[in-house]
Amino acid sequence: MPRRELAWPRGLEGRLCFGGDYNPEQWPERVWVEDVMLMRDAGVNLVTVGVFSWSRLEPREGEFDFEWLDKVLDMLASAGVKANLATPTASPPPWFSFAHPDALPVTREGVRHVHGSRDTFCPSAPAYRQAAVRIASELGRRYADHPALAMWHVHNEYGTWCFCDHVAAAFSSWLQRRYGTLDRLNEAWTTSFWSQSYGDWSHILPPRSTQYVPNPSQLLDFRRFLSDELLARFIEQRDVLRELTPDVPITTNYVLGAWAPANLWAWSQEVDLVSVDHYPGDARPLVTEQETAFVADLARGLGGGRPWLLMEQAPHHITARGYSLPKEPGRMTRLSLSHVARGSRGVMFFQWRASRGGAEQHHSAMVPHAGPASRAFKEVAALGAVLGKIAEADAGTVEAHVALVWDPESWWALRQPGMPAPDLDYDAVARAVHAALWRAGATADIVHPRADLTSYRLVLVPPLYVAADDALANLASYVDRGGVLAAWYLSGSVDLENRIRPGGYAGGLRELLGVRVEEIHPLPGDATVTLTTGETGHRWSELVRAESARVVSKYAAGVLAGQPAITANARGAGSAWYVSTQLDEGGLDRLVRRLVAESGGEPSSSPGLELVRRRSVGADWLFALNHTDADWSVAASGTDLIGGGRVEGLLRVAPGSFGVVREG
Ligand code: GLA
Ligand code: GLA
Repeated sequence: MPRRELAWPRGLEGRLCFGGDYNPEQWPERVWVEDVMLMRDAGVNLVTVGVFSWSRLEPREGEFDFEWLDKVLDMLASAGVKANLATPTASPPPWFSFAHPDALPVTREGVRHVHGSRDTFCPSAPAYRQAAVRIASELGRRYADHPALAMWHVHNEYGTWCFCDHVAAAFSSWLQRRYGTLDRLNEAWTTSFWSQSYGDWSHILPPRSTQYVPNPSQLLDFRRFLSDELLARFIEQRDVLRELTPDVPITTNYVLGAWAPANLWAWSQEVDLVSVDHYPGDARPLVTEQETAFVADLARGLGGGRPWLLMEQAPHHITARGYSLPKEPGRMTRLSLSHVARGSRGVMFFQWRASRGGAEQHHSAMVPHAGPASRAFKEVAALGAVLGKIAEADAGTVEAHVALVWDPESWWALRQPGMPAPDLDYDAVARAVHAALWRAGATADIVHPRADLTSYRLVLVPPLYVAADDALANLASYVDRGGVLAAWYLSGSVDLENRIRPGGYAGGLRELLGVRVEEIHPLPGDATVTLTTGETGHRWSELVRAESARVVSKYAAGVLAGQPAITANARGAGSAWYVSTQLDEGGLDRLVRRLVAESGGEPSSSPGLELVRRRSVGADWLFALNHTDADWSVAASGTDLIGGGRVEGLLRVAPGSFGVVREG
């Protein structure tokens, strides 16, 4: 089915969305009145309602109570605040688990969870599927014509795991569709190893707890299955809502963190607007900023460059290693604007008003426990005003000359047991490479391995461990046509079935890279290796034989002394680099700056000043965010959308401040 172009919440066309999760059911009605008043003060125009309201909406099976929600939506509508109306299916009520104990999720070890938190359901259980579609249709029918309804927010952060018998049956059917015959499955999974050949589809189980290392192909297929199964649950609800309200966009909020339950490339074909939640895990200066840019670029990439929406972030804190660390004054605003600069159609938070009780009672909120007379609320309201001034920039496409290839399947596979090192972290390498690009001032698009790469000057490929032949061919043809590409260790090592490609690690890219990886040399713990060009490598090193590639840097010591560490292979009109170790931050910076320069870019000379340009046929917009204590000036001429007035030649960006200029 062709993708629909319904990417604005209805009624907010031309405006940036601003608001957050609104959970009025936690408060008496008199608080609702204050809520709506404060929303107007802050410029809030969209709130997510009902996301965890199932037990309130359906207090007993099949018995619905919508009166309170009618009131809430009427109140919002009369205040001009739109509703991103959620289906509450991420948290079934207690009656559900008593009525349908078989729909409770089961862990790998066979422990059945009970209600008392959230996400307590099995996504394959028929009772859950029926109950979820039923509550979604009830909501759809009741509110189809409500003036507040702007968008549907299906579920919340799909990502529930289960290993029960319902899942086993669904997994088996998924495998039958994928492989057709047991012979093909046995071949793909190399079941000849350890006597695992299957003679009956029903004997194939989810990867439950086993005596020793499980089958790596089975593990990877289970992750694929789970992603597809969760997506099918989204589609079931989406189709019901689409039928009832064809003009209302439908989204679901992705989790973009270290938890990667789904392959979001496939999901993004099914939503009307990509929306993401972002909770950075590191509060150090500039580190959070780099993480934010990564997530925003990924969200834009998942939507194929189309606009997307930051659906949740914490307003005032960053949770790092269990500590809720406050965002320094101005930081929340700059981080929010980084999302907007990189394509978000607004800024949304979890949540509007801080809860008194419940599991997240200590989570920050737009209206904090201290109330609206607070620095926190004032900064929120000021951000609302800023978004009102810069909405026109949404018309611009983010300018990026660099692409970073992103592949969740490689992430999953590298994390599996039985790998040659227990700490292979795809996500960490991808983020480190992206952070080096950020420090070099190079805005990157994040792309699928099979994406059209022709418009990029430089393509960076973090360990693309699992890759289909056509994805590898795509990379090769990009280089042949003149592109500069760099691939990290282990790229091209296994096929889609998670079987090693013969001819040495990185075997699938051997010809493109002009190297043969003869041995692997993981570096445990803090072990490091020095390179002749001064960099330090950690986590991983290899015995690399340069075939047609030129050696850029060698290992300087140890058993690999004198052997290639970084290589570059001239091929066609382009070049393909290979990085066989994980470089320290300084080393990675040097390499990435060199690659940016070599591919025709100009590495930044103002570290911590984030510059993003959005272009359209009629105008360009420059976002300048100063995340440092230094005073920076940027070459720019045009209209200052924040301060008003003209900028002639130079825009001054004071420490901690920001500017948005319509250029020309
Ligand atoms: C043991 C087993 C072998 C093999 C090796 C690999 O020796 O008997 O089958 O698994 O370990 O570590
Ligand atoms: C997620 C959820 C929210 C809330 C926040 C708080 O993003 O979607 O419901 O739990 O985390 O961290």
